[in-house]
Amino acid sequence: MNVELIVDDVQVTAEAGESVLDVARHAGRDIPALCHHEAVPTIASCRLCLMEVRRPGRDWVQLTTSCDYPVSAGLVVVTDSARIRKHRAMNLELLLRRAPDAPVLRQLAAQLDVTEPRFAPVTDAPLPDCILCELCVRVCSALGYNALAAIGRGAHKSVGPPFGQMEAPDCVGCGSCYEACPTACIPMEDTATTRAIWGRTFELLACERCGRPITTEAHAATMAAKADLPVKSDHLCDVCKRRIVSERLASPGR
Ligand code: SF4
Ligand code: SF4
Ligand code: FES
Repeated sequence: MNVELIVDDVQVTAEAGESVLDVARHAGRDIPALCHHEAVPTIASCRLCLMEVRRPGRDWVQLTTSCDYPVSAGLVVVTDSARIRKHRAMNLELLLRRAPDAPVLRQLAAQLDVTEPRFAPVTDAPLPDCILCELCVRVCSALGYNALAAIGRGAHKSVGPPFGQMEAPDCVGCGSCYEACPTACIPMEDTATTRAIWGRTFELLACERCGRPITTEAHAATMAAKADLPVKSDHLCDVCKRRIVSERLASPGR
């Protein structure tokens, strides 16, 4: 079901239940949202996606995170104001405690005129630059591996292998958590033949045509098992697959 709402004085149509953040972004607004990914459930932890919303029939304007606020008919949304910027800047200062050097936060600090964060940096975090957004945990869980967990609470909270283990026994080395991490703080090291991540080292599967690594052997085996295929049924990289199609199309005897 579609609903009409107002975003920054412009009427837009959205699907009921969509988040205000996604609707505002589709309408072209540039909203910082570090802990959000459309493909996984939100936990609204970074608190940067603040917006002002007013429900029909109410005369007060609520300042709220927008990634977990569903649109509804007649909602009036403001994506930028002095009040939003003030609170967003303070939330950014809190994130800067944990990740003072993360480029994504430095860039936002420049945009929000945060020159001198007021809060002392956390210096004993197990994973430097981690803002505890749990995107890595949620992505890994959505993929069905459940290799990571949030551990501890409050100042002692961290993310990593469950129960504080040094290695993640259920990790297959797919690298999706590394790609999803907003502050690029997950250590992952690829050599020509191996990938090291979360205390594990995996063999990389090479494309049989060009030799480029495709993914880890453990990840390929898991995907093949899910698709009920032999493990070695497909070990061409995407580039070579496309090239093979082009070559076939160009072949006179196709
Ligand atoms: S690399 Fe490991 S921990 Fe990261 S998403 Fe893949 S399976 Fe999960
Ligand atoms: S490692 Fe990255 S994705 Fe995971 S909680 Fe920390 S900042 Fe978020
Ligand atoms: S994106 Fe909404 S709280 Fe992080």
